Parts: sequence; C-alpha cells; structure tokens
Amino acid sequence: MRKVVVGAASRSRFSTEYCGAFNEPNLWHEIRDGMTYGSKEMQLSPEEGQLIAWLARCIKATDILEIGTGIGYSTLWLACALPLNGKVVTVEKCAIRHEAAISNIEKAGFSDRVEFIWCDAVEFFKTETRLFDLIFIDANKAMYDKYVFYADKLLKHNGVIIIDDILLFSDNNSKRVQKMKKSIEVAKDMLFAMQNYDCTILPLCHGLLLARKFGPTSL
Ligand SMILES: C[S@@+](CC[C@H](N)C(=O)[O-])C[C@H]1O[C@@H](n2cnc3c(N)ncnc32)[C@H](O)[C@@H]1O
Repeated sequence: MRKVVVGAASRSRFSTEYCGAFNEPNLWHEIRDGMTYGSKEMQLSPEEGQLIAWLARCIKATDILEIGTGIGYSTLWLACALPLNGKVVTVEKCAIRHEAAISNIEKAGFSDRVEFIWCDAVEFFKTETRLFDLIFIDANKAMYDKYVFYADKLLKHNGVIIIDDILLFSDNNSKRVQKMKKSIEVAKDMLFAMQNYDCTILPLCHGLLLARKFGPTSL
C-alpha cells in the first residue's frame, strides 16, 4: 500500500497556499501565534484543528473531553463544532496555561460551552463519571497509555478517541524521550488490539490516531 506522508516542508507550503480553506479566524490565528507560555509548537496546526472540528460535526458530538487544554487553541476548534446544547470539558495541569485558555475562549465568545478543569489528567480520569462522544488527547506524552486506558471507560458507544502526536519520534534518546516513545507505542498498540475499536493513523503533522468505538449494534 502506498503511504503518503505530509512532511514539514510540504506541509508549510500546503498551509501557505491553502490556508484560506482552513477558515481560521484572525483572532484564533493571533492566539495560536501569540505568547504561549511554552513552545509555539504546542498548539495544533490549523489543518489539524479543522479536521478535529469536522470529525466532531460528522459524529454529531455534543459531549467532548479534551486532555491538554494548553492555551485553548484546540479547544476553540472543538467548541466551534458543537451544537448549542454541547459542551467541551477541558483539562489542564499548568495554572498559567489554564488561565490563558479561559481568557482566550472568553475573547472568542465560547465560554458558555467550555468547562475548564485545572487538574492532573490522571487525577481527573480517576474521579470523572460522565461519558463523552469524542475524547481528544494532547497532554503528557509519557502518560498516553494511561490516558487511553481511562478514556475507553468514558467513551460512549460509537464515540471517537483522537490522539495527537502519535508519530512523534525524536532523535533525542534521553530517558525522558524514551519514556514518551514507549507510552505512545503502548497507547497505539492497545487501541489497535481492542476488538471493539476501528483505528487508523493520519500522517498529518506529527500524526493523529483516530479510533472509533463500536456500539452493540454497529456494523
Ligand atoms: C501540546 S500542549 C496542548 C496543546 C493544545 N491541545 C492545543 O493544541 O492548543 C500539552 C498540554 O498538556 C498539559 N499537560 C501536561 N501534562 C499534563 C497532565 N499530567 N495533566 C494535564 N495536563 C497536562 C501541558 O501543560 C500542556 O499545556
């Protein structure tokens, strides 16, 4: 099978030439590009943002969980895909980013549909009981295996898990990076091994894993 990989160079040309297609409002662009309390690279790309919003609309998601709010850029894309009765619950451990996200989402006019939780993701998962249509995972890469274990329990039938950075490989072989690589691999293998999930990997930016959970009556 032919594998198409959108590399960094072609991706930026693609983004530059076709960015109009992504409908990224100016304010969102400023948020993505502005002071980010960390690396500017942390935010999703607009093409990934538009993809997760498109998917959320396709599955008619009303209840969305985001693990790793950052400054709220990906939250914007998820929030804009919701119907009026929908909600994004978003979890962030860093207090500064959590506060920045609240302010950014307010500026964009989505405060009524976002619930911000300042907490470690695993601690959140241990006590949360609500079920979600879509769970977007983009936090501590070294904990991806744990996130997948818990996300499965909170995902509705026919719901979708999206994992960012699934193809993130680095030449750096420090213990920290090795731990991240291992956890990403375990998370991927867990989902692909589950009989009730249909999984694929999209090589967009650092890779998105898309996993749909079958319901009892799904094909
Ligand atoms: C890649 S950034 C998220 C970017 C955001 N999803 C976006 O695209 O705009 C990862 C975020 O996860 C947060 N994070 C890291 N470890 C975490 C943990 N254990 N629990 C919750 N959030 C965590 C970081 O503080 C950081 O803001």
